[in-house]
Formats: sequence, C-alpha cells, structure tokens
Amino acid sequence: MKTDILLEIDKDKFRSRLSGYTRQAYSRLPHMEAPAILDIGCGSGIPTIQLAIISKGKITAVDIDRQSLNILRDKIKVFRLSGHIKPVRHSLLTLHFKNTCFDIVWAEGSIAVIGFEKGIQEWRRFIKPGGFLVVHDEITNYREKMTCIPKFNYTLVHHFKISEHVWLNEYFNPLLQRIKELQVIYKNDPGAMKILDKEASETALFMKSPENLASLFYIMQKI
Ligand SMILES: C[S@@+](CC[C@H](N)C(=O)[O-])C[C@H]1O[C@@H](n2cnc3c(N)ncnc32)[C@H](O)[C@@H]1O
Repeated sequence: MKTDILLEIDKDKFRSRLSGYTRQAYSRLPHMEAPAILDIGCGSGIPTIQLAIISKGKITAVDIDRQSLNILRDKIKVFRLSGHIKPVRHSLLTLHFKNTCFDIVWAEGSIAVIGFEKGIQEWRRFIKPGGFLVVHDEITNYREKMTCIPKFNYTLVHHFKISEHVWLNEYFNPLLQRIKELQVIYKNDPGAMKILDKEASETALFMKSPENLASLFYIMQKI
C-alpha cells in the first residue's frame, strides 16, 4: 500500500519540472566525448537520465535506496539507456571507486548527507585531473561553502541559484495539490490517509520557511 500511494503521489513528476537546471549546469562544462560520470545519490534518476541523454557518456549511478534504484532501472529500459547508465546500490559515505576514474562527479540533493566540506574533499580523488564536480545543494550557508571550494583545490567555474519561487511554483505547490486530491480520493482508507497526512505535513513544514527552499548549483573544476 505504502508503495502504491507513493507511486500515485509521483514526486518524480514534479521533480522533473526542474530538469532544465541539470541541463543548464551541464551546458557550463566544456565538451567532453562520452565522459565517465559518477552520479552520487541518484535517487530514481531524474538528473541521471538527463545526463545520459545530453552527455552520451557512461554514468555510474549510486544510491542507497533499493526502491529508487528499481524505478531508475525501469526508466533505463524505457529510454533504452542500458549502455549508458549502471545503477549501483551503495552508501555515498563509503564509496570505493578507483582514483581519478571519472571526468565528472555529479551530486544533486545528496551532499548534505555527508556534509558539503567533507563531500567535496572526499570525492575529489575520484575526479580526473582537470575534471569537474557539480553539486546541487540547499542554499543554506552558501558563503561558507564557497570559501571551502579553493581550500580543497577546486576552482568555482560557475554557480547559479534556483529561487524559492521556482521551487514553490514548480515543485512544492503542485505536490501539495496532488496530495490534497489523493486525500479526497482515499478519505475512507485509513492506511492510505496515514501516509498522505504524513506527506502533507512534511511538505507543508518545508513550505513554512520558503527562504530555505532555494538551492544552488556549484560547478567546480579540480585543480
Ligand atoms: C533529495 S534525493 C536526490 C535524488 C536525485 N539526485 C535528484 O536530484 O532527484 C537524495 C538521495 O540521496 C540518497 N541517499 C541518502 N543517503 C544516502 C547514502 N548514505 N548513500 C547513498 N545515497 C543516499 C537518497 O536515497 C535519495 O535518493
């Protein structure tokens, strides 16, 4: 039941509305022929699919969550991208790839798990000399985050913000609207309502502090 209701909410549909920003960040990189990309905390692969299509490279897509990876596997089949995306179930806290084997390390919405400073420090070794680290992270403490970029031997090539208005209009408001629709449909189903009420209150809680909803893309080059 839990899975069914979550599938009906379909957060991916709303997350997809922000895919243009993944493409915008990628467009800031120099042309690379079929780059090797490590997508850390890929989830169900909204950015991963975009990256595979635009880069035509080889993506190793890592996440700890089995269910998200299964959704990604389904998408890989639908988009016929099996030659381009390899899903790997592993914790981002204990990654064990060889040194300097990726042209690009990409992380959207996942660096907070390890912490910005620790993440950029630890993931640096996976990047080829002159390669790139692209991080999409919550806006909080962005000044401190920017100061640690040169400290760990990266150049900040470019950065851009996704405003709280974009997040509200494209993601949070439509998501809450969808949850409310389902609350009407499932009003006589206590199991479904429990999940829907939880999702609604979590979403509403996020929306209470709209200034924290904004996010930032950091495009960094390994020195
Ligand atoms: C906010 S989602 C972002 C998903 C995707 N990158 C996107 O932008 O749509 C964060 C992802 O990090 C994953 N995650 C959380 N802790 C993790 C860990 N210890 N190791 C690997 N992935 C983790 C979650 O499972 C989730 O898929």
